[in-house]
Amino acid sequence: TRCVVVTGSASGIGEALVRLLREQGDEVIGVDRDVADVQADLSTGDGRDRAVSGVAERSAGRVDAVVACAGVSHPEPVTVSTNYFGVVRLLEGLRPLLAAAPRPRAAVVGSISGTQPVDPGVVEACLQDDEPAALERARAVAERGAGHELYSSSKSALAQWVRRAAVSPEWAGAGVPLNAVAPGVVLSPMTAPLLADEEWRQVVEEAVPMPLHGFAEPVVIARALRWLVSEDNTHMAGQVIYVDGGAEATLRGPQT
Ligand code: NAI
Repeated sequence: TRCVVVTGSASGIGEALVRLLREQGDEVIGVDRDVADVQADLSTGDGRDRAVSGVAERSAGRVDAVVACAGVSHPEPVTVSTNYFGVVRLLEGLRPLLAAAPRPRAAVVGSISGTQPVDPGVVEACLQDDEPAALERARAVAERGAGHELYSSSKSALAQWVRRAAVSPEWAGAGVPLNAVAPGVVLSPMTAPLLADEEWRQVVEEAVPMPLHGFAEPVVIARALRWLVSEDNTHMAGQVIYVDGGAEATLRGPQT
């Protein structure tokens, strides 16, 4: 059996993925700050260390795949420390366990909002792997009332990291496909309060047009992640795959 680590396992997309993987017989190690096999707060360095050591203890030294779903969408700096550094540092921390697997795989969850306006300073600090600078800049962004840009900034930086890291000696060079799925709007606890408000629902519908089947259930995204980390994926690397009902194609038009 394959051993798969899923972060954000307590809710939404991560929870749906855990179910799919267990149904097909995989052993899953769920990581979440909420109830999980390994309980850890991925927004902090201590929490990331706890997550890596917790997974190491439970996995007997080998992890076949890692899927990072945990994320938040608050207009606060914690969104950057969770969605960018909480993903990148954890994946890097688990790389030695992946290296012990015969056919290792990794995937992360981006967002359609990674295509929306960002704070360039936050994105640059993330890509330079400078968490203190990224958080300082994020605090300034939040203070001037542009906190909503922190989510898109974190997801844009994550997508750029995936494209760069995926083809590096550490990932492609080590035989590990690394990719992202970028959802449109997903009907999960993250979006439920927003979509329950009729006015906000209309704002979201206009900002993220999804001509194919509309808002998605979490399992839709989980199915794409399951394929990316399956043994069937031998040659896809560095891709940000929009599973978004056509939102990205609608917003960006025909250029690729
Ligand atoms: P959710 O809120 O249902 O689940 C997120 C999970 O991550 C929760 O179990 C939460 O406890 C965990 N988590 C949050 N911060 C954490 C931390 N610091 N340490 C450990 N665990 C933490 O949300 P959902 O919708 O399942 O989101 C999953 C991913 O999909 C996120 O990265 C989100 O940004 C992304 N996404 C969601 C979309 C949506 O419309 N719901 C759209 C595009 C992307």
